[in-house]
Amino acid sequence: MKRFSHAIIEKNLLLLGVLTLITVAIGGLVQIVPLFLVETTIERVEGIRPYTPLELMGRNIYVREGCYLCHSQMVRPFRDEAERYGHYSLAAESMYDRPFQWGSKRTGPDLARVGGRYSDDWHVAHLRSPRELVPASVMPPYAFLERPLPMDEIAAHLRAQRSLGVPYTDEMIASAAADLRAQANPEADGAGFAARYPRARQGLFDGNARDVTEMDAVVAYLQMLGTLVHFSDVTPEQLLQP
Ligand code: HEC
Repeated sequence: MKRFSHAIIEKNLLLLGVLTLITVAIGGLVQIVPLFLVETTIERVEGIRPYTPLELMGRNIYVREGCYLCHSQMVRPFRDEAERYGHYSLAAESMYDRPFQWGSKRTGPDLARVGGRYSDDWHVAHLRSPRELVPASVMPPYAFLERPLPMDEIAAHLRAQRSLGVPYTDEMIASAAADLRAQANPEADGAGFAARYPRARQGLFDGNARDVTEMDAVVAYLQMLGTLVHFSDVTPEQLLQP
């Protein structure tokens, strides 16, 4: 009997196709559905916040320039990676990354924890001309980033991110342009900005106060990468908590 029914299935292409589809679908559902139902797929970790408007613009430039083609942003949980780059990446650290920047190729080093590793000046000089600092570098120069940053659409960028699930409030959207300028000018009153974006640094970034440039945005973005979670505050138990 068993052999007989198998023969029917094998000889009937349509039936075989339909049954294969059902089998594969069940396997897929078993793997995928729990990820949507389990609340801990992404563990909540203290310190994670949405990008500031300036960082978000820097991130947009990072995507526009295709930096992800040479740089990953995910430290894998292997000893050699942790020793080179720092603590392995947590899912929560890219929960507001739309699109995510994990990458699939490392021509250059992983950047998930590059924030704070170099000075702002180093980043500016390196982006302007990588080979001046690292003679063997194959990274292209990005000196043109010293042009003014277009800011008129910043609120729309925040709104677009919100429509994808990033929790920007109405207040954050209304003050997006002001927050962007406040972050790029250390003299500005940053009280409102600091309340909206904890652990965000105000600075000159590109070293001059004249214009807010694309360089300001990229450096502000690079300098915050991987710095939101203070691992000294997080116990291993918290990371393992279901
Ligand atoms: C063609 C591949 C390539 C592209 C595209 C590229 N990089 Fe790089 N990057 C490298 C290589 C190789 C290095 C290592 C040598 C060096 O420091 O220049 C590097 C190093 C870096 C470093 C220093 C990292 C560290 O830990 O030392 C930063 C920061 C960086 N790149 C940022 C960027 C940004 C931002 C962009 C896009 C605007 C970009 N890169 C585009 C190849 C690339």
